[in-house]
Amino acid sequence: MKDRACISFDNEKMIFHIKTRKTSYIIAVIDGFLAHAYYGTRLEGSLTLNHLMVEDIAFLQGNIGEEGTFMDSFPFEYPSDGQGDFRCPGISIKNDKHITGCNLKYEDYRILQGRRAIKGLPYSNGKDISSLEIVLKDVNNLVEVTLSYSVFYESDIITKNVIVKSISHRTITLNTVMSSSLDIPYDETEVISLPGSWARERMIERTKIGHGQIVLASDRGISSHQMNPAFAVVSKDTTETTGPAWGMALVYSGSFVARIERTQFDRVRIVAGISDNDFEWTLKPGEEFYSPEIAICYSSEGIGNMSRCFHDFVRNNIIRSKYIFKERPVLINNWEATYFDFDSKKLLEIGQKARDAGIEMLVVDDGWFGAREKDNSSLGDWECNTKKIPEGLDGLCDELNDMGLQMGIWFEPEMISPDSDLYRTHPDWALRESGTGYVMCRTQLVLDMTRKEVRDYVYACLSDVFSKTNIKYLKWDMNRPLIGKVSTVTPPGELHHRYMLGVYELQEKLTEQFPYLLIENCCGGGGRFDLGMLYYSPQIWCSDDTDAVERICIQEGTSLFYPPSSMGAHVSVCPNHAVGRITDMKTRGHVALFGTFGYELDITKLSEDEIDVIRQQIDDYKKYSHLIRMGDLYRLISKDDKAAWMFVSKDKTEALLTYVQILGSANKPRVLVRLRGLNPKNNYLTDDGRIYTGDELMNIGFATGKVFGDFKSEIHYFRAVNNTEKDIGEDADEKL
Ligand code: GLA
Repeated sequence: MKDRACISFDNEKMIFHIKTRKTSYIIAVIDGFLAHAYYGTRLEGSLTLNHLMVEDIAFLQGNIGEEGTFMDSFPFEYPSDGQGDFRCPGISIKNDKHITGCNLKYEDYRILQGRRAIKGLPYSNGKDISSLEIVLKDVNNLVEVTLSYSVFYESDIITKNVIVKSISHRTITLNTVMSSSLDIPYDETEVISLPGSWARERMIERTKIGHGQIVLASDRGISSHQMNPAFAVVSKDTTETTGPAWGMALVYSGSFVARIERTQFDRVRIVAGISDNDFEWTLKPGEEFYSPEIAICYSSEGIGNMSRCFHDFVRNNIIRSKYIFKERPVLINNWEATYFDFDSKKLLEIGQKARDAGIEMLVVDDGWFGAREKDNSSLGDWECNTKKIPEGLDGLCDELNDMGLQMGIWFEPEMISPDSDLYRTHPDWALRESGTGYVMCRTQLVLDMTRKEVRDYVYACLSDVFSKTNIKYLKWDMNRPLIGKVSTVTPPGELHHRYMLGVYELQEKLTEQFPYLLIENCCGGGGRFDLGMLYYSPQIWCSDDTDAVERICIQEGTSLFYPPSSMGAHVSVCPNHAVGRITDMKTRGHVALFGTFGYELDITKLSEDEIDVIRQQIDDYKKYSHLIRMGDLYRLISKDDKAAWMFVSKDKTEALLTYVQILGSANKPRVLVRLRGLNPKNNYLTDDGRIYTGDELMNIGFATGKVFGDFKSEIHYFRAVNNTEKDIGEDADEKL
């Protein structure tokens, strides 16, 4: 959609109608109040909105009914606290006399070609965006609130964010500013969330909504391993392929909250935004506050379609890196190979073997700087440790480059070790956890990223390395949560958000100064896997659990909202360091192909047979990775004993199926996997030379091999061939 026709305003009926390819989002102005009327399958034709039945709850000024009842049941598009709406608020404000409450009435609207930037925060971008801004004004003249909606027509995504401007002549405090509120009817509604833990991130959980609230949140200063800031609200019967799903993903990496509330009148209110636990943001007269953005999607075709909408949107409109659709270099990371115990001789040995096997980049992980021999020192002292690397980073990089390998490096810029020169010089740069002291976590403290001099120091360290070497990749790690809220300069109620603004500022500068840099964000594995970080980096290390079997669940959960091309996934050594499991090298490769693909093992210790498998895996990656980066994902089977998924090219002429037998059992028949997303009319040639119709593959299924053993897998490539009904063998090689 190249014009503004996807947003319309009916002046007489006072109805805003936002359309995407398959959805409608409808807002109405009713007696000055802004009502959420509908979000679902696209509606055509003229709207009556009789279903709102506001007369039942009419307070409509000067009309029958009581204000209290009205406030507590009207479907506010952006509800405020303190006026008699006892459901979850979108906004909660205090004036300088600590009196809470505001009452927002419709004031004005604007339809824009393009969108307004969200100051200091990551936000969706791209060509052909239309946006709607609706301005609400508090009747008590405290604030003006602008609700902003950007429309991503093709991917069926709408993003929302909120700007609060103080119009008071006094200081006011914001206690809650949600990025979105949405009221939908209750229909045996359930919530799909992604809780987890370190090395067990984003496990899919489905919960019934009873009366009251379900709260999904992180107050850790990071979006967290424990709860991802993306979730879906679905009906009881919604499946991967059928039924309604409302998906939401915050474009934010810090503390957040989402509340899903089933109300007394069987509606569901969903609010999501920055965590309001102890949030207190002061606005002086005329100042503005920008909420983070949230992306929302409605799918009437189940969870699978919702995921594909998010994947398209994230690839096209969130990730800005030039690597987004490019083949990424196959890398080997030395973390699980050596941990802290390495020197340049060892790295060069790994490099040489890796290069011989076809690997393209060596990433030097934690331990190259200061006096770091284990995890208890030197964070903040970002000088090369010349005892380990006498030739310096530039020298090592040159040696690797001469070998034909690129070099990457690990940093943990937000941290400081108490045992570091940086801490000895600037002890006040570390955030304290309480008035009295520190809570140590991985024997390290968090730098106060709300302070400019701290950010300047960190940036100088990063920029020094990338200006003076030919290093092409950065793994930006962050290995502990923020526990307290004590800064020497920033009030506790603003600390977590200002911390994130500081981190975003640094990553923005870095991507501007070094646009060629391939950045992989990381947070003790996948503790900050969110759309905020993906704005700065095309990929995020998915989890410190690299076991192929566990990764199937982690990557499946992650794929509900995030595209596979954004998931850092490596083949690692066995027995696996996180779970002790031994899996087939081939299976490890097939599972890592679901993401960015690379290695995390001591290649110098592998047998020649294993190196041959690596060569084959790299070949597969080169042949198929375009499907993973740019194609559509279909999750086919997700069971305890087996899993299957496939990628289909946008033009449906190519597909890659992965089948994993997690647990074998005796005398089992082959499994018939029903494929999806193909063109039913195409003929597809598989790698074993057989031809099937798309129709058959999707309705009858594709028979897997006779897989023998636990943790075994296979991949199958399908290519559309000339679909005439005559002798297909003749034309088998001809691509459509
Ligand atoms: C985190 C990362 C790991 C590794 C270590 C290094 O745990 O997730 O991949 O980089 O830090 O300390």
